[in-house]
Amino acid sequence: MSEASSQCIALIGPSGAGKSTVGRRLAQQLGWNFMDLDSLIEKRAGMLTSAIFAQEGELGFRDRESAALVEALEITPLVIACGGGVISRMFNRSILREQTWCVYLTSNIETLATRISRDEENLRPLLADAMVERLAVMVGERRPIYASLANWTIHTDQIQSTVVADEIVRAWHLSQHAAPTEVRVHGGTYQLKNGAYAGLPDELARLGLGGACWLISDDQVGPRYAKQVQAALTGAGFKCEMIYIPAGESSKSLQQAEALYTWLLEHGVQRGDTVLALGGGVVGDLAGFVAATILRGIAVVQLPTTILAMIDSSIGGKTGINHPRGKNLIGAFHQPQLVLVDESVLHSLPRRERAAGWAEAVKHGVIADAALFEDLERAAGTLNDLPAEQTRDLLLRAAMVKIGVVNRDERELGERMLLNYGHTLGQAIEVATGYTRYLHGEAVAIGMTFAAELAVRRNLWSAIDADRQRMLLEALELPTSLPADLDLHQTLAGLNLDKKRANGVVRWVLPSAIGSAFVDTHVPPALVQEVLEEWLGQVAG
Ligand SMILES: NC(=O)c1ccc[n+]([C@@H]2O[C@H](COP(=O)([O-])OP(=O)(O)OC[C@H]3O[C@@H](n4cnc5c(N)ncnc54)[C@H](O)[C@@H]3O)[C@@H](O)[C@H]2O)c1
Ligand SMILES: [Zn+2]
Repeated sequence: MSEASSQCIALIGPSGAGKSTVGRRLAQQLGWNFMDLDSLIEKRAGMLTSAIFAQEGELGFRDRESAALVEALEITPLVIACGGGVISRMFNRSILREQTWCVYLTSNIETLATRISRDEENLRPLLADAMVERLAVMVGERRPIYASLANWTIHTDQIQSTVVADEIVRAWHLSQHAAPTEVRVHGGTYQLKNGAYAGLPDELARLGLGGACWLISDDQVGPRYAKQVQAALTGAGFKCEMIYIPAGESSKSLQQAEALYTWLLEHGVQRGDTVLALGGGVVGDLAGFVAATILRGIAVVQLPTTILAMIDSSIGGKTGINHPRGKNLIGAFHQPQLVLVDESVLHSLPRRERAAGWAEAVKHGVIADAALFEDLERAAGTLNDLPAEQTRDLLLRAAMVKIGVVNRDERELGERMLLNYGHTLGQAIEVATGYTRYLHGEAVAIGMTFAAELAVRRNLWSAIDADRQRMLLEALELPTSLPADLDLHQTLAGLNLDKKRANGVVRWVLPSAIGSAFVDTHVPPALVQEVLEEWLGQVAG
């Protein structure tokens, strides 16, 4: 939508998604005009849609539809419910895109079929199976077009139209008072915007970082995006050297750090230079650590490319490498001058990596932001094909939780510990399974489900909310149960060696409500063992 024309909300999507009902309520809530496009067409034609189709064919109907759309958009402010096929014409698509804020309402096929047959009860009997199939094909063909037009998407299955209308009002206000894309973090700023890399030279200049740039990426991300960053920099007169490390956790090693030191020193790195970390958490942690330690520390800019890195690891200044005795045992706090996020790079991120990243967003929702949790619930089924605006909104809000916590407790003396929610058991599972079976976020998903169970057993959290969390994680395609062959003793030993122990007590982060959590140092080890045994029994049995 163009910025100037914010006074028209168009509801698009298949018939049966609830556009007219929701549209009417929405207009009422906003105090705006409401127009049902099909009704306007019928009024102007003086006959019913079915008669127009019979007499003039689809072509005739579509001509009338385009004319009616143009006529309707003269009215402001306006909520307009469009027919399912409005998006078939390029002309209509371009005026919707330019003049309206488009909300895509969608439902699963069964719901659509039921609603259509209910609406048209008097006209024809219940939809036959063949019709459901035809509907599925049509919806399948149109879905990408709806999605490409949408500024916001809502699944209307089992949600009352008033709730859908509320959600649209909320989303519309969000879009109007565009969420800040720039946030202050310790040591610098956090920016999230599309096409962000092009702005990197200006940002460096603004920060007074005029030295050479040392771009560190991995062999999966580098070939895709590093040239673009380098070109932006060299085009603006910066010197920019690049290097790719092998992708994967094993690169967070002293050997790899040494290789980077050698590369930097041989190419003449200086105190006023900047390391650019382009990649996921592995690149961010390693490059950050190298920047923290070479020449006693030079500037680092984080350019995170995974969801996990965008909302978690790039923020907060923890950098480090692994030791054969454990993960992240060698490290330093080194705040980035800037975290620059271009979420368009996520399109190439593998599906499993995405889900694992969203697990940390769920964590942020549970420990500190109930609205974020609810929005993740609403978006869960479609997180992979949300409109960019909506993805950016969720990422930014998930990042804000971490930014808020870190800004208040940089050195993890109190509140920052809450970020370890799900990580106590999660890390023990990662260790017990040799880091190969689960992605970090997957292990955290299991860990959060387990911590939730402990909270419920201790009467500290409601079973209903714990269930909501489990269902959300599962909707995100994340695991929530223990692998049947998990070694119980090794896992228990892992819990006791947890570096989050204080004075010999394991500190469990437990939720007390969706949106708030606390550190519980009184969880009886026997309870932990009991629940672990039960879960393993359940899985095996
Ligand atoms: N510093 C912190 O505060 C902090 C917090 C959480 C996690 N971490 C660390 O982060 C690391 C995990 O980070 P991660 O989950 O981002 O993993 P990662 O860096 O290993 O990236 C995952 C995989 O996705 C690939 N990839 C990344 N971006 C891509 C893109 N846009 N398109 C295609 N492929 C892409 C990578 O090459 C890699 O193979 C762990 O080492 C963990 O210890 C650090
Ligand atoms: Zn984590």
